[in-house]
Amino acid sequence: MSTQKYGHLIKPLSNAGISGRERSPEAKKFMGPGNADVIVWPNGRDHLEGLAVNFSWGFYTGLGEWHPGMDPHMHTYPECLIYVGLDPSNIEYLGGEMQYCLGRELEVYTFDKPTVIIAPKGLPHCPAITKKVTDPKGYSFSIISLGAEPNSTWMGDGIDEEEFNKMQELAEKNGMKVPMKSSIGKKRIKYSEDTVTHGNKYARYVKPLKSPSNTPGPGNPDQSVWLFGRDLEGIDLNFSWGYYSKPGSWDKGEGLHYHPVDEVLMFVGLDPKDIEYLGAEIEIDMGMEKEKHVFNTPTSVILPAGTVHGSINVKSVEKPYGVYLISLGPEHTTISVK
Ligand SMILES: [Fe+2]
Ligand SMILES: [Fe+2]
Repeated sequence: MSTQKYGHLIKPLSNAGISGRERSPEAKKFMGPGNADVIVWPNGRDHLEGLAVNFSWGFYTGLGEWHPGMDPHMHTYPECLIYVGLDPSNIEYLGGEMQYCLGRELEVYTFDKPTVIIAPKGLPHCPAITKKVTDPKGYSFSIISLGAEPNSTWMGDGIDEEEFNKMQELAEKNGMKVPMKSSIGKKRIKYSEDTVTHGNKYARYVKPLKSPSNTPGPGNPDQSVWLFGRDLEGIDLNFSWGYYSKPGSWDKGEGLHYHPVDEVLMFVGLDPKDIEYLGAEIEIDMGMEKEKHVFNTPTSVILPAGTVHGSINVKSVEKPYGVYLISLGPEHTTISVK
């Protein structure tokens, strides 16, 4: 693959490393019981050809806080936090009950349906707390952050700067690559059941994951949702999420085409026991020369703005799988090159 002209644009998600299977004592300090059982987290800088995006895909079954003592936190870019279920026959099913805080006020929101939370640049968000997991398979959670280099300023009052730096040093000494640039905020915010508030200042940032515009998804998903910039409080993003089980082409007549903004297609499997399993064999043509690429494991198809490509051709399906289409503009535009 790598000898081909476009091989660098088709990358297994596992290239980013798979974490969570076995957690070191240092990582356990940072990752609470509610955090991912297993996760991949490719970022623009290291894995996605410099695109201004980082993306996580993980499976979750644990209860409780995700980063005890660390949250809330904020970033220098906006991000979407997306909770989805693992039942490909029902896109409105999550399989758990979540709590999420937004703002310095720690305004608390709870939900038990697939949901996207928009955290604008600089807005403190979290803790995330898993209250219940009702699907024995658990659920999945993804981050779509609009920055190539993951960074966080942690504002929780549970871990001080000295302890945090020690944790990071130890992790690095033990060979763990820490891709996120972290700092500790000057102002600390104490999270507890008594410090949360119950207003609705940030209610517009918490949205059920359904398609308000009722736009059909890309190609032939069984079920999908698509949210645009206008649905996402005006950030430079539109994304779709869907479950797929049918072989065949996604081509709706556009043939070879390109998009005027950067785009990434994330193909993910739905088996929490094996994050490296996709369940389908997928083919895509790249470039005017239609260079063929075929993959059958969870993969990112990276399409920098203007990259000519063909529609996805699903060669075979063993088990339903999921796809995130991530497009770094408020609208989705396709330009045919016939
Ligand atoms: Fe965040
Ligand atoms: Fe496309």
